[in-house]
Amino acid sequence: MDQHKPQGGESLADRASEASSLVRPRPRVSERARSHQRAEHFRRRAEEILSLATFDAIVGSHPSMQDLLKRVAYVAATRATVLIQGESGTGKELIAAALHQNSKRRERPYVRLNCASLAESVLESELFGHEKGAFTGATMRREGRFKQADGGTLLLDEISEIPASIQVKLLRFLQEREFERVGGNESLRVDVRVLAAANRDLKALVREGRFREDLYYRLAVVRLDVPPLRARPCDIIPLAQQFLKQAAQENEVEVTGFTRAAERALMNYAWPGNVRELQNAVEHAVILAESELVDEPQLPLQTPETNSQWQLMIPGVTLAELERYAITETLRAVSGSPAKAAKLLGVSRRTIQYRMREYGLSAGTRGGALESVDHDDDDDD
Ligand SMILES: Nc1ncnc2c1ncn2[C@@H]1O[C@H](COP(=O)(O)OP(=O)(O)OP(=O)(O)O)[C@@H](O)[C@H]1O
Ligand SMILES: [Mg+2]
Repeated sequence: MDQHKPQGGESLADRASEASSLVRPRPRVSERARSHQRAEHFRRRAEEILSLATFDAIVGSHPSMQDLLKRVAYVAATRATVLIQGESGTGKELIAAALHQNSKRRERPYVRLNCASLAESVLESELFGHEKGAFTGATMRREGRFKQADGGTLLLDEISEIPASIQVKLLRFLQEREFERVGGNESLRVDVRVLAAANRDLKALVREGRFREDLYYRLAVVRLDVPPLRARPCDIIPLAQQFLKQAAQENEVEVTGFTRAAERALMNYAWPGNVRELQNAVEHAVILAESELVDEPQLPLQTPETNSQWQLMIPGVTLAELERYAITETLRAVSGSPAKAAKLLGVSRRTIQYRMREYGLSAGTRGGALESVDHDDDDDD
């Protein structure tokens, strides 16, 4: 940016000393001036980056969110690989999109892949593409997501779920920027910036030996942690208001706000399903609102106190009852998605499905009503 010498006098002094700079150190004052100039350059660059960044859809005035958005603005301008971690529903995809939108690649493709939704063999060919005849049914060559994202950004969502064999291939790409299509020998090179998202602690998976440490460090060149909603209470009402406005518009109802009691209930709730749960709860309440203000009874917030079915007494309750309670409440918070509930509870999806059958929870989520379970949450695009 600013390459000028700070003062004419110093500039002359610099020039005068140039001839002898090989034999004696530059004067200290000039060193100081230069470091001042560098600091000023960084300060102005930071100001410029922050003033240019746009976070239209993101609500977040809590200091932890402000700090996160500042880091997003800084990191967006680079091509650093970023690992975005946070509980389910905290807004990781929104942060990933903001990284792409605020980067020089914004006009280029933004490609997403949910790594949890595909079987190992399909995932490999989805990422890297395959050659004709690579496997039964591969009737023609197909390019993968890396190729599609050339020049742009690739978000690998739920990265914790990729199997070991693909971890190796991903590591190779991150180290050498090279990969091969499944069934092919030709090394391909693409210019792709990789973002990864996880709602499980990848470092803990590394410690358990379930995720490669070298890959972790390659992915987490920069790590952004999205805080849970309960840790940023001042964002709850502004988020709820934004969701209320959207839901009222989409459903064409004249609902304009919340009663005091409803606001208090929103503030007092722990939001295990984070922003997504808040969004669902508000939409539910807007649809059921009996006046232009949403009132507390319309908010589907289930707690042991408000849900008489679950008056759990300790001691007195069995482990099975506790487990059933944990599964039911978690399913409710994630709109009935077994995959998401499994992640929050730290067990496999199969375990959740088994327990749901065992406890007669094959369907039923929000507001305690029996509804069909959402099997369609593993969209990969
Ligand atoms: N700060 C925010 N401001 C506005 N909307 C938000 C914010 N955070 C999240 N949302 C909304 O909440 C919903 C969930 O966010 P998102 O899908 O990004 O979560 P996630 O962390 O990727 O969840 P998961 O781990 O379950 O995939 C989305 O509809 C998103 O638009
Ligand atoms: Mg997500």
